[in-house]
Amino acid sequence: MKIFAHRGASGDYPENTLLAFKEAAKLPIYGVELDVQRTKDGVLVINHDEKIDRTSNGKGYIRDMTFEEIRSYDFGKWKGQHFTGEKIPTLDEVLDIFRTTHHMINIELKTDVFEYPGLEDDVIETVKSHEMMERVLFSSFDHEIVERVLQKAPTNEVAALFMKILVNLDAYGQMIGTTALHISLVAAKRESAKKAINAGNTVRVYTVNTTNDYDLMEEIEVDGVFTDYPEKLYRHAYSKKYDCKMN
Ligand code: G3P
Ligand code: CA
Repeated sequence: MKIFAHRGASGDYPENTLLAFKEAAKLPIYGVELDVQRTKDGVLVINHDEKIDRTSNGKGYIRDMTFEEIRSYDFGKWKGQHFTGEKIPTLDEVLDIFRTTHHMINIELKTDVFEYPGLEDDVIETVKSHEMMERVLFSSFDHEIVERVLQKAPTNEVAALFMKILVNLDAYGQMIGTTALHISLVAAKRESAKKAINAGNTVRVYTVNTTNDYDLMEEIEVDGVFTDYPEKLYRHAYSKKYDCKMN
C-alpha cells in the first residue's frame, strides 16, 4: 500500500511548508500531497485553507493578497516556537525539493471554494517547466476541474476527491471519467468503498494517522493512504513486511 505524506510531514512540522516537504522527501515512501492556491498577483502558493489565519500570523484570503504581502507572514510559529521563520512556499519551490527524489507528487487543486479561473493551466505549465509531469498525480474536490485536467493532461492520473459517503462511487467515477477515487477514512470503512475497489478503481484514503487504521486499509486493499505521520506509518509497514522492529 502506498504512503503519501499529507501536506508534507505535517504531523510533526508545520503543514505545507518547505520544512514539512523536506522531511517527507527524506523518507522512502511513495509520495507527497500538497494543496495549491493562487495569490492576487497570480503566484501559485501551497496552503490548505483559502485564508491564512489558521496557519500564519497574518489574516485574510490568499486570493486578496499579493505574493510579497503573503510572504511577509510567518507560517511556522503556530505549530511551535522553534518553527518561527517558515514562509508560505510556492509550487516552484516545492517541486524543486522533489526534483531529484523518487516521490510522486499529488497536487490538490483547491478550487472547491474559490474557482481561481485557469488554475489548472497555471499548475500544468509550472509542472511542465520543471519537466515533472510524469511525477504528478492531480486531484480535487471540484469535479469540474477534474474533468478539465483529464482533458488537458491526458496521460496523468487525475483523482476525484470526496467528502461524502456515496452509494455508487464506481458509477460516479465513470461518469466524470476517472477511476482514481480519493475518499475519507470514514467513507473507506463503508461497503461502498469495497465495491469501488472490487470494481477496479484506484481508491486512496485520507487521513490515516494510526497503525490500526493503516492495517484496516491494507485489509480492504486500498491503493494508498494519506497520512500526517509518514515516518510512523512507514516504520509500521516495514516492520510488518519484514516481521521485525525498525530502530
Ligand atoms: O488529498 C487528500 C486530502 O488532503 C483531502 O482533504 O482537506 O486535507 O485537503 P484536505
Ligand atoms: Ca489536501
